[in-house]
Amino acid sequence: MLVLVTKDYDEMSKEAAKRVAAMVRKKPDCVLGLATGSTPIGLYKELVRMHKEEGLDFSKVTTFNLDEYVGLPPEHNQSYHYFMWENFFKHINVDPRNVYIPQGMAENVDEFCEWYENRIKEVGGIDLQILGIGSNGHIAFNEPGSSLGSRTRIKTLKESTRRDNARFFSSIDEVPKYAITMGIGTIMEAQEIILLASGKNKADALKKTVEGPITAMCPASTLQLHRKATIIADKEAASLLDKELIEIPK
Ligand code: PGA
Repeated sequence: MLVLVTKDYDEMSKEAAKRVAAMVRKKPDCVLGLATGSTPIGLYKELVRMHKEEGLDFSKVTTFNLDEYVGLPPEHNQSYHYFMWENFFKHINVDPRNVYIPQGMAENVDEFCEWYENRIKEVGGIDLQILGIGSNGHIAFNEPGSSLGSRTRIKTLKESTRRDNARFFSSIDEVPKYAITMGIGTIMEAQEIILLASGKNKADALKKTVEGPITAMCPASTLQLHRKATIIADKEAASLLDKELIEIPK
């Protein structure tokens, strides 16, 4: 696991964008795994800039999102469908037929989850997966205690996650209680993973991820077992890490 520490959020976002762009240029029909949340917004902004100013071409790219709230329709302004189109897809030339996001309104959730897993396999698997990290160490909506081999499924959100996300809703009662999420096993099958972390409230989770034992109580710690995982963290998120374990990007 490579741990890169950047001076701030902006540099973290640009460092991640460089790597995503390199993948898209090397393999124009690559499969990207994408994340939502505040953290990757700067990454998407930079990729949009690269598309507009440098012609970065997403026309053959396929994308799979990590998760979606159960019960929110795609047009709800807090759904992850809405987030992805507003912050990224509508600004680039991705083919909407190649965009996959879990369906929070699926009638049969179990069947949908199986279909999602199969779809990832049918397109050849994820080449590069982007992840954020929850303040409790979750990746996607795999909360502490999730099975390390888990696949796409419905999960109950922890109170701490609902509290973290309440800032986007008018009250915590409106934050959905369930989500569909790729599993830790699904995520670990990506050829390459980049985890982004920004801000002091991620410092403790990041320390456990990098220096702690591999445990279901900190799902992100599973990345220690991945062959090609890079963590890009800003100084604040990295503030508790052992200085000998980190690198500064050139
Ligand atoms: P954030 O969420 O980017 O909004 O902090 C990350 C996460 O919960 O995975």
